[in-house]
Amino acid sequence: MNNLHPIEANLISRSEKEDKLNQKGAVIWLTGLSGSGKSTIAISLERRLFNEGRLVKVLDGDNIRTGINKDLSFSLEDREENIRRIAEVSKLFSQSACICINSFVSPTQAIRNKAKTIIGEHDFIEVFVNASLELCESRDVKGLYKKARAGEIKGFTGIDSPYEIPRNPDIELNTGDYSVKDCVDQLHQFLRDEGIINN
Ligand code: ADX
Repeated sequence: MNNLHPIEANLISRSEKEDKLNQKGAVIWLTGLSGSGKSTIAISLERRLFNEGRLVKVLDGDNIRTGINKDLSFSLEDREENIRRIAEVSKLFSQSACICINSFVSPTQAIRNKAKTIIGEHDFIEVFVNASLELCESRDVKGLYKKARAGEIKGFTGIDSPYEIPRNPDIELNTGDYSVKDCVDQLHQFLRDEGIINN
C-alpha cells in the first residue's frame, strides 16, 4: 500500500502523458526584438508539429497581454511580472507533456533566467531570434518603431529601452539570413536532436 491520497494516486503522471503523446513536454522560448520574426516562427513551427500529430500551444502577446496580463505595462518591472506569469503558465503546459512555444521580447538576461528557473532548466529551450534593429525597424510590421522614434511610445525595446543579447542561447536563428522555413527547419532539427520529438 502506498500512502498517497486516492486522488493523487489516480492523477495521470507527466511520463504517462509523454508516452501516450510520443513527445516530451518542453517550453521553447523565443526571445528577440519586436519584428524579429518570433511569432511568425512560433506559428509556423506550431503548424508543422501539429500536422505531425503533436500537442502544441503558442503563447504570445496576442493571447497573453490581452488577457491574463492586460494589467501590465512595458516598464521593466511589469515586463518581469509579464514573464513570471507566462513562465508559470508555460510550466503547466510542459508538465502536461505539451510543447509550449513562447514568443516574447523578454529583453533582459535576468528576465530570461527567471523564466528558466521557474520552468526548470531541463524543460527550457532558449531560442534567440536574431535580426538587427535596422532590419526590424525597416520591417516595422505594426508601425510601432515609427511611433517610438516620434516619441509617441516611450520605453520601446531597442529604441529607448534595452535589449540584452542572449549570452548563451540553446539555439540562434538569424531571420536576416534565413527564410522562415529554414529557421523552422533548424528548430525542428534541434527538437529532434534533444529528443523532444523523435521522428
Ligand atoms: S516583454 O518585454 O514583456 O517580453 P512582450 O513580448 O510581452 O514584451 O510584448 C512585446 C510586443 O508588444 C511587441 O512585439 C510590440 O508589438 C508591443 N509593444 C508595445 N509597446 C512596446 C514597448 N514599449 N516595447 C516593446 N514592445 C512593445
